[in-house]
Amino acid sequence: MIPLGPPGARPRVGHNRSVEIEGADALLAEVTEKYSEFLNPGLARLLSFAGFGVEARAEGCYVFDHSGRKFLDCLGGYGVFSLGHRHPKVLEAARAALDTMPLSAKVFFSKPMADLAEKLAEITPGGLKFTFLCNSGTEAVEGALKVAKAFDGRPKVVSTEGGYHGKSMGSLSATGREKYRAPFYPLVPEFVHVPFNDVQAMEEAVDNRTAAVIVEPVQGEGGIHVPDISYLPSVREICDRNDALLVLDEVQTGFGRTGRMFGMEHSGVVPDLVTFAKALGGGVAPIGAFVGTREVWERTFGPNPLIHTSTFGGNAMACAAALAVIDVVTEERLWERSEKMGARLIGGLRNVRSQLPDLIADVRGLGLMIGVEFAMDDVAEICIGQMLKRGVVAAYTLNNSRVIRFEPPLIIEESQVDMAVNVFGEALDETQSLVSAVMGDVSG
Ligand SMILES: Cc1ncc(COP(=O)(O)O)c(C=O)c1O
Repeated sequence: MIPLGPPGARPRVGHNRSVEIEGADALLAEVTEKYSEFLNPGLARLLSFAGFGVEARAEGCYVFDHSGRKFLDCLGGYGVFSLGHRHPKVLEAARAALDTMPLSAKVFFSKPMADLAEKLAEITPGGLKFTFLCNSGTEAVEGALKVAKAFDGRPKVVSTEGGYHGKSMGSLSATGREKYRAPFYPLVPEFVHVPFNDVQAMEEAVDNRTAAVIVEPVQGEGGIHVPDISYLPSVREICDRNDALLVLDEVQTGFGRTGRMFGMEHSGVVPDLVTFAKALGGGVAPIGAFVGTREVWERTFGPNPLIHTSTFGGNAMACAAALAVIDVVTEERLWERSEKMGARLIGGLRNVRSQLPDLIADVRGLGLMIGVEFAMDDVAEICIGQMLKRGVVAAYTLNNSRVIRFEPPLIIEESQVDMAVNVFGEALDETQSLVSAVMGDVSG
């Protein structure tokens, strides 16, 4: 194990400096080789190309690598680290559960699970009341879609192009990107995809065979697309008219990310089912959940309480962490911070864009869920590498590699936002030079 310096330190300058650097280099080589040999050679190449080292520890808005280098985390684990890394209150809650009963024996009643379900009913709007607990986003979607299909036996599900709901078979059937779907055909039958933010297309797709429509309040992996304010209310109305259920996937938008507690609050739409994961575990425990109405529960879990189950779902440690997360987000009103810091970040990024309008096509988002779309392919990767070199972690969106997403912890400070913007500007200048060298002048 490589001894790490204090936060942010480069390897210490002194008599053993070369030994430390050699040790750090050896660790990186060892882990890279194990990735190539035992995990995923293509992923090893991808991470090495971008310049990522080995993660060693994390605190607040920062991640430290194997050499002690400090990075501002503007990716936030794809939306997991809304409270930052290792939030003390979440750690304390998880530790207490570890010391008593981390995993559930399953056959007894569980108080942490009961408390979390009650809390979720309290903070979600309308008639959303009953919760099923699982371990990830894709499981939450998988379960919600199963319940929606069992509700009245209809076979069809409508989702959106570019939408991302996970990569297990049912969720993947809803996910709207061919690249991830094509190798696995046939997927679950009767999944239909329509363009996002297109009411007419939704109107034409939903009919009396439709069990559910599943949609994200803001498309995350599709490239951070914010729909018109009237879109979700129209989708709700179309569902009601056709007796189809509306499932909102808040796996990425939930718990303050978009400047409201939930993404659905921007339009006031209440779904029949909502899915959560990512930030719900506070970056400490993996957890997913779907919450639905009494009517949905009565018609699915009513006839068979074991119709959908999970061995690890609802374990005491994850529930304890999630309860602490909800307390922190609520007490600190972190959605307000998200809105404020998001306005600062998007303003800064738009300012950078105004200097390089031919390279950046758009800067858009809600709260601290912000996307920068490049005007051409492959530029985002170069820019991400340049940002990393300058100490900021970012990544592109899974269904749209032209878009770099900024999803830092909601606890980010103004000075950290400004640092991220400056680094992005510098990285972009460098990217432009590199692209110009290959393709000629792109500055216009
Ligand atoms: C909206 C949405 N739904 C579902 C998922 C799948 O979550 P997981 O990766 O935890 O399975 C994601 C992941 O990015 C997501 O953004």
